[in-house]
Amino acid sequence: MDMPKNIIVTGGCGFIGSNFVRYVAAEHPEVHVTVLDKLTYAGNPENIAGLPEDQVELVVGDICDAELLERLVPGHDAIVHYAAESHNDNSIADPEPFLRTNVEGTYRLLEAARRHDVRFHHISTDEVYGDLALDDPARFTEETPYHPSSPYSSTKASSDMLVRAWHRTYGVRATISNCSNNYGPYQHIEKFIPRQITNILCGIRPKLYGDGRNVRDWIHTEDHSRAVWDILTKGRVGETYLIGADGERSNIDVLRAILERMGRGADDFDWVRDRPGHDRRYAIDSAKLRRELGWRPVHTDFSEGLDATIAWYTEHQDWWRAAKDETEAKYAAKGQ
Ligand code: NAD
Ligand code: DAU
Repeated sequence: MDMPKNIIVTGGCGFIGSNFVRYVAAEHPEVHVTVLDKLTYAGNPENIAGLPEDQVELVVGDICDAELLERLVPGHDAIVHYAAESHNDNSIADPEPFLRTNVEGTYRLLEAARRHDVRFHHISTDEVYGDLALDDPARFTEETPYHPSSPYSSTKASSDMLVRAWHRTYGVRATISNCSNNYGPYQHIEKFIPRQITNILCGIRPKLYGDGRNVRDWIHTEDHSRAVWDILTKGRVGETYLIGADGERSNIDVLRAILERMGRGADDFDWVRDRPGHDRRYAIDSAKLRRELGWRPVHTDFSEGLDATIAWYTEHQDWWRAAKDETEAKYAAKGQ
């Protein structure tokens, strides 16, 4: 598409959405961003504080609110859709908000995009493909069949299907990206890496699920943001692009890297109850994105990214302290 002038970013106060908003503010100051965010427990306006007021505007609202969308969407030339319930463990405890936001919310946005002919980019996850065995030489590609495991990933898979159908049937100018596990600053402390860092900072022993050998394919969230911008502005409408930075690591290796950097022993953690239905391994082949759009990750040194992430949580305790007790109490109630 031509360079967008006026975009809506849903979920722009969450971890990855706010990184994208900060990226656009820094790299494309001519683009106006309307952040649409419900400010759930995972959304924090602090994540976009300090950005120029004439460039970034926050609208607090629900993507399921069709009347709000009818007022908000006209006049924008693209919607970049990050808003979601995003945590697997929460989806296992209570799937309903996932159905509502991830499926109904995406439907409402697609309908608004259709009515007002607005370009739509949908942020999805590699989890829609299910999992791989540890010794499987394959990685996920755009052709891998959908096989989601958790309530979370099944609602993301459903939302992807809606996007594909709205493109094919109604001609909505849509693209989809499926990205692997993000890390970096501003990630909610319920997630693996920030949970362990903030546990250590609070004097709590880190918690590892199952046998710790599950593999995630880590990417720095800034590399994700640049990929989304490239797909939005240069990607082929109707296409899906996988985003990944060749960052496969087992959970126990990641945890031990955190322990070492924070001056703890290699076994200073607790084994806890496994996640039901726990996916074994994710791995992304991002050749299409690299070949067609020339995207490359910049944060290729995981150790460096981890050091910076640990430093950020150490220096920004005001940002996460208030949520810590409640987050850990929820895990403790599940034996995790
Ligand atoms: P997050 O949980 O940190 O943030 C979600 C944001 O969406 C919050 O600001 C929340 O307030 C907002 N939100 C939730 N429900 C809403 C609703 N009904 N209306 C409006 N706003 C609502 O999530 P995240 O980790 O930043 O993930 C963002 C997106 O990226 C999600 O779509 C997720 O599926 C996808 N994704 C995440 C990862 C990852 O590693 N975290 C990887 C690949 C894809
Ligand atoms: O792959 C992309 C997905 O990555 C995104 O779609 C999700 O939104 C995002 O939350 C993430 O999902 P995961 O389930 O992989 O991330 P999480 O941080 O919850 O867990 C990462 C791994 O660490 C997973 O194998 C479970 C394990 N884990 C997690 C926690 C919170 C532990 O061993 N201990 C923990 O305390």
